[in-house]
Amino acid sequence: MVTSSGFRRGGADVAETAEERREAVVEAALGALDLDAKTRLLAGQDMWSLPALPEAGLASLVMSDGPIGVRGVHWSADDPSVALPSPTALAATWDPALAHRAGVLLAQEARRKGVHLLLAPTVNLHRSPLGGRHFEAYSEDPYLTGRIGTEYVRGVQSGGVGTTVKHFVANDAETDRLTVNNVVGERALRELYLAPFEAIVENAHPWGIMTAYNSVNGPTMTEHHHLVDEVLRGTWGFDGVNVSDWTAARSTLGALTGGLDIAMPGPRTVYDEALARAVRDGEADEALVDEAARRVLRLAARVGILQGAEPVVTDPPPTVDGAALAREIARRSFVLVRNENGALPLKPGRVALIGAAARDARVLGGGSATVFPARTVSPLDGLTAALPDGSLTFALGADPNTELPVAEQGFELRVVCRAADGTVLGTRSAPGGHIQWTGADLPDGVTRGALHSVELTGTFTPHETGTHTFGFKGLGPFRLTVAGTTHFDGVQLPAEDDDPFAAFSGSPVPHARVELAAGEPVDVSLTYTVPPPDDHPMSGVFFTLAHQDPQRDPDELIAEAAEAAREAATAVVVVATTERVESEGFDRRDLRLPGRQDDLVRAVAAANPNTVVVVNAGSPVELPWRDDVAAVLLSWFPGQEGGAALADVLTGAEEPGGRLPTTWGSLADAPVTRVVPENGELVYEEGVFIGYRAWEKHGRTPAYPFGHGLGYTDWTYESVEVDGTPAGTTVTVRLRNSGDRPGREVVQLYLAPREADPTRPARWLAGFASVGAAPGETAEAVVALPRRAFEIWDEETGSWSYVKGSYEIQAGRSIADRRITATITV
Ligand code: BGC
Repeated sequence: MVTSSGFRRGGADVAETAEERREAVVEAALGALDLDAKTRLLAGQDMWSLPALPEAGLASLVMSDGPIGVRGVHWSADDPSVALPSPTALAATWDPALAHRAGVLLAQEARRKGVHLLLAPTVNLHRSPLGGRHFEAYSEDPYLTGRIGTEYVRGVQSGGVGTTVKHFVANDAETDRLTVNNVVGERALRELYLAPFEAIVENAHPWGIMTAYNSVNGPTMTEHHHLVDEVLRGTWGFDGVNVSDWTAARSTLGALTGGLDIAMPGPRTVYDEALARAVRDGEADEALVDEAARRVLRLAARVGILQGAEPVVTDPPPTVDGAALAREIARRSFVLVRNENGALPLKPGRVALIGAAARDARVLGGGSATVFPARTVSPLDGLTAALPDGSLTFALGADPNTELPVAEQGFELRVVCRAADGTVLGTRSAPGGHIQWTGADLPDGVTRGALHSVELTGTFTPHETGTHTFGFKGLGPFRLTVAGTTHFDGVQLPAEDDDPFAAFSGSPVPHARVELAAGEPVDVSLTYTVPPPDDHPMSGVFFTLAHQDPQRDPDELIAEAAEAAREAATAVVVVATTERVESEGFDRRDLRLPGRQDDLVRAVAAANPNTVVVVNAGSPVELPWRDDVAAVLLSWFPGQEGGAALADVLTGAEEPGGRLPTTWGSLADAPVTRVVPENGELVYEEGVFIGYRAWEKHGRTPAYPFGHGLGYTDWTYESVEVDGTPAGTTVTVRLRNSGDRPGREVVQLYLAPREADPTRPARWLAGFASVGAAPGETAEAVVALPRRAFEIWDEETGSWSYVKGSYEIQAGRSIADRRITATITV
């Protein structure tokens, strides 16, 4: 239940809302805090939380990443989370209601883990396909992004958990993200990059926002008085908290006057004592501290951790089955971009399943969006369960992983924590080679102050005889010993940059090649000497032991896969990227599939014309062989149930429901690609022309256009009617399921000015709706076009301007497949 109604007090009608009652409690709590307590409240006490302030009845507010799950305060598989498909996948459903249900599930996960504020959703735009974090954002289109983001936020908050819509704003690439100044024209800023944030603030009333690392037109976003205080809070009326991105706040006064409320993470921040001192020295205005503290207390009241304040949600929504929802979203997100001669659904007969990614499920991208699901269903698991016994063969073919994987199979490890004098402070079991301890997340008995070294130690029992490679990922002093020989004893330095997440996102470095015999265990030890806690703003312990089995000849593996394909009725090849290709912390250099995967597809397609390629990637990759295979299905990073959903769709039990939220094309053809700043600046020189807006302007044809996606039935668009009144424009599209099975269609409406205007795109997405119908039946999509679809940002007046004139409303299946048109004059 969401509380907001008036109530009766003392017999008289008091038209006081729940919000007003909460505000009264917030004011009282604020009054109970002295300057030191207020400034403490504005600073992380550790990696993920704010301090409790008992004098104000306030419990500690806990935050967690998002957006595909709720990791909680432990970076470890010990505390698993439901892993939903990547945000690109969620956007590919074009279904805001599904995004809402995802949000409800995430609120449930957050509550289970004691999390009050989810660091999500990511609503930056797919400006260049090289952006490393595309998988974590929704689309190249601001309207689609806003619609999906709005319902995601509404869903999470309907469960009583706050969101931080991120990263405000123009954090559309990763290169030099901490320092880059993105130079963005006012029109592009308003019409593209700010637009999803604006829509979400207006329609979903988020309780938080996260300001980005980067600068926009000068000031860094944690100090951007204009965009935060004047636009977001002033014009849009945002009343939530502004949380910095992790380590982004660099100046006490800059952040305070730039409207930043919470500096994360702790314990060392520019707020807390530094801020109290600045007030006492007369440099900072205590009224600004009060405003920030008030907003944090308001959030605490909303989520129910401020004594005396009734939370916004008192009865959380009914329990959601996370695995079932993950599977539903995955199959609804898969985009069938090519299906020649009805190659899919699969016909009876033997299936050769090919590709390392078919066996080793690649369910999510890299960086802070990582969660640890309790299980993952690989394509091999999913198809084995769905197909008749004996009808499936598997061949490895090629591996997308070109680096050493995390040590897991065959390892039995534990962690030993020691003080400087060698005393053992504590131990913990280690399910694998990943050590990611954030904040206070240390083994029992271990304090960060006393901790001097962490040793990951145990045995490795090889499955195969041959040359095994060992290495590690992490920065600082390490010692690696395998089978009694020390292979590395020194300091591993950062390879590329000083990104705070380099220890997560860097590459594992090989340090030992050791001949081992199958079945014979050897001792393995990796010791990390941790820096003193004060030497780094994030006082965590992050490193990874990596290992690779003996490698086979790649040509031989491809030949074996082609042979398996030749003997099957259908070959299904799963190609993939990895978190080393798509991740927070760096951008991509090209759009190619890693390793020998393109060679693999070509060899398999030559052996069997009935080849179906499943593309397991969070954002666009080049598919140079796409016209030589029978079918191409994009499965994104499909979340923990991806393999089960894949089986649903390949067998035809379910229709693939996705449509492209972003244009897929080659890098050479892509009109906007630059992500590397020059002299610290990245100029968004393309203005309002990104994504399909740019492809059309440049007259280029992508591999697959925005909005494209096939189902298993056909649709005939029969009529379009437009009802334009001064209050708004409603479009009704009538269409018939002209195929032979039930289906769902996403009806897309593009608005195209009839008189060409070179300052505007040829057309843009103005609305969409999905309909379902049985074979032969008709359905009606009724879509209200927002006023904003007819507006541009007028740089001269600094306001929105409604552009009168004649427009075509084009209804269709993608930006390139427009089926039916009406004209309207406004
Ligand atoms: C990311 C944020 C994330 C935060 C905490 C940052 O590096 O940019 O998206 O929420 O870390 O993990």
